[in-house]
Amino acid sequence: MPFGYSGFLKKKRNCMKEIVLSGIRPTGNLHLGNYFGAVRNFVKMQEENQCFFFIADYHSLTTHPTPSDLHGNVKQVLVEYLAAGLDPEKATLYIQSDVPEIAELYLILNMNAYMGELERVTTFKEKARKQPENVNAGLLTYPSLMAADILIHKAHKVPVGKDQEQHLEMTRTFARRFNRMYKEDFFPIPQAYNFGAELVKIPGLDGSGKMGKSEGEGNAIFLADDPKSIRKKVMRAVTDAGPEKPNQQKPEMIENLFSLLKVVSSSEVLTHFDEQYNNCSIRYGDLKKQLAEDMIVFTEPIRQRIIELSADESYISKVARIGAEKAHESAKKTIKEVREIIGFRSF
Ligand code: TRP
Repeated sequence: MPFGYSGFLKKKRNCMKEIVLSGIRPTGNLHLGNYFGAVRNFVKMQEENQCFFFIADYHSLTTHPTPSDLHGNVKQVLVEYLAAGLDPEKATLYIQSDVPEIAELYLILNMNAYMGELERVTTFKEKARKQPENVNAGLLTYPSLMAADILIHKAHKVPVGKDQEQHLEMTRTFARRFNRMYKEDFFPIPQAYNFGAELVKIPGLDGSGKMGKSEGEGNAIFLADDPKSIRKKVMRAVTDAGPEKPNQQKPEMIENLFSLLKVVSSSEVLTHFDEQYNNCSIRYGDLKKQLAEDMIVFTEPIRQRIIELSADESYISKVARIGAEKAHESAKKTIKEVREIIGFRSF
């Protein structure tokens, strides 16, 4: 193939890359559930797509954080995602509030977002019920801001969990409405992207349900946990009195420990304990010890990077600055077009 032609193909392929976008709430620390449920897939996706990943700090104002909490959380989240493998050279990593075009698009989308449809959103109803003293307009219009996040880069795919599907449906509604009103096919209609077979459920250590930071002390293993606290949490995980007859089905709390082994341990280790369970010779203490050590092997390099990155203010601010620039460039282009087609023309 002539030299120039393959270069052309490469370029063409590049510009046809699908745009993937996701927002990250700046709350708390990443745990193994976040890692295997989302972050690991972001890391893979940045290889094949044009990815935008951002920290949703405008969104977080609905809960009125103090300025220092807000800043600290944003930094922590940025550090942890970098430590877990997001690469600022491959993906555009930015902080939402560094791109004020998003706020402008949000304002514009709000003009065609109706009270009735916003009030029907499940997350809104839940929040309103849980915090009746703080049902602010930002909470109500959360779906318009999320739509602005997505549409500002004309994203095609949005990797989100089940809990965000209704929000994404709203984005599609707003995009279609805008296209109908102003310009056919202007915004691509974004699709949810939920990893299919890659999706693994990571349970917590308290015997039931999934790993989560709000599920109580000791339920989640954080990427920033030191070996000592990992051992302590794992050794305290809930178990039962052990199997009574060969090959019996594992109760949820035991199944959960095996699910965790599955993600951090080798297949030999998994088979070993599985056989022991099935012939009733298992000692949960041994399983937990092994699980804790394998978790440590997995998390320790990430924890070290978290420590290094946290101390490297200049690198972190460089990452944020470069991300802001790239995101800004893409957002500016969309906003310019939007202003034009809705009739904001300069005199
Ligand atoms: N609402 C998402 C969450 O709570 C975060 C988010 C904000 C987001 N804007 C987004 C996700 C845009 C995907 C796309 O997790």
